[in-house]
Amino acid sequence: MNKIIYLDAAASAFKPQSVISTGVDFLQKSYANAGRGVCARATAVDDMVANARARVAKFIGAKPNQVVFTSGATDGLNRIVNIITSQPGYREMSTFAVSDLDHHSARLPWEALLHRGKIRKMFKCELDKNFDINPNEIPKTDFLIITAMSNVLGRAQDVKKIIAAARSKNPNVITIVDASQYIVHKKIDVKKWDCDFLVFSGHKIGADTGLGILYIRDSEKYFPDKFGGGMVQSIYDMRAAKNADYGAWIYENTGSCWVVLHSPEKWEAGTLPLTQIAGLVPAIDYLEQNRPNLDLIKYAYDELSKLSRVKILTKRDATILSFVVDDMHPLDVGAMLGANNICVRAGNMCASWIHQLIGVPGSIRLSVGSWNTIGDIKKFISVMKKIVK
Ligand code: ALA
Repeated sequence: MNKIIYLDAAASAFKPQSVISTGVDFLQKSYANAGRGVCARATAVDDMVANARARVAKFIGAKPNQVVFTSGATDGLNRIVNIITSQPGYREMSTFAVSDLDHHSARLPWEALLHRGKIRKMFKCELDKNFDINPNEIPKTDFLIITAMSNVLGRAQDVKKIIAAARSKNPNVITIVDASQYIVHKKIDVKKWDCDFLVFSGHKIGADTGLGILYIRDSEKYFPDKFGGGMVQSIYDMRAAKNADYGAWIYENTGSCWVVLHSPEKWEAGTLPLTQIAGLVPAIDYLEQNRPNLDLIKYAYDELSKLSRVKILTKRDATILSFVVDDMHPLDVGAMLGANNICVRAGNMCASWIHQLIGVPGSIRLSVGSWNTIGDIKKFISVMKKIVK
């Protein structure tokens, strides 16, 4: 069988052996549900979840009760909109700001609100000549969505400065950071960034699919957006409620009166993706020791630059390499690479706006993980030479 050369880490990362073994061990030897059991086996799963949460918190400079497990970055980005719009006092006259770097999942939930008349206006954050968000031109807005690193251009944005600029215009602005690509390459400190919400996915950092991380700074303040098992402290009869020890939140207009648990449990109705969570600690440990080798991107950049029909869209020091080929559709180039056992991403990459701004229908993207070698890039270049000759 021909060897597959996987140059698509930015779409989803291969899993370190430690993640696979931890998941298998969990399923084979210690599986139980979390947050519901009283036997030792179940409480050990509670401990596993708590350890994973603490590890994520340390990874991003948060407190454990600010870290919420979701089903993915897309889920987190959609839930943020639901959380915000379901708070008592939410104003439909609010405004939000986005940028053309955004992934569809960061921007469409807000545009959908606009379509439904649930928010008043959308602003755009201007990009500078390098297609970076210009901190000097951040609009005054109620909600600001920031893509910390574009999945097409692979450049770190100055999130701290962008947020500071937004707060200087509106001290009450709520800031939302999509860190899905950034977190793979760089250390994050949510306190330094001073963001209100941040999301990333497990599968891009080497854990399994079906798991996302949602950081909520004021995680006790907001009313939950999702309801069900595992997030309720007590449900009282109204008469008994008079003397109840009220917890985080209470509804008393339905005949019963209910109190939900504190964060993070109040955000995690339903059974969590436990096997994926089991793999988080080994995934983060591994990633911190084995960040993608970006010299491979530089090498690919230098070699690809020599091919006359290739136009590279990214900078040499970017974390990915995106390009187009004259007179060829990106999907055709991607398919031809695929036919030669080289996996890359091609198309609009769920980031239509940046492609429209650049003036291309899509692009071909090469990205690397710790498993890639210089030999993989050489093979990619040799196939590209044949494609463009
Ligand atoms: N958003 C992921 C990517 O850029 C899937 O490929």
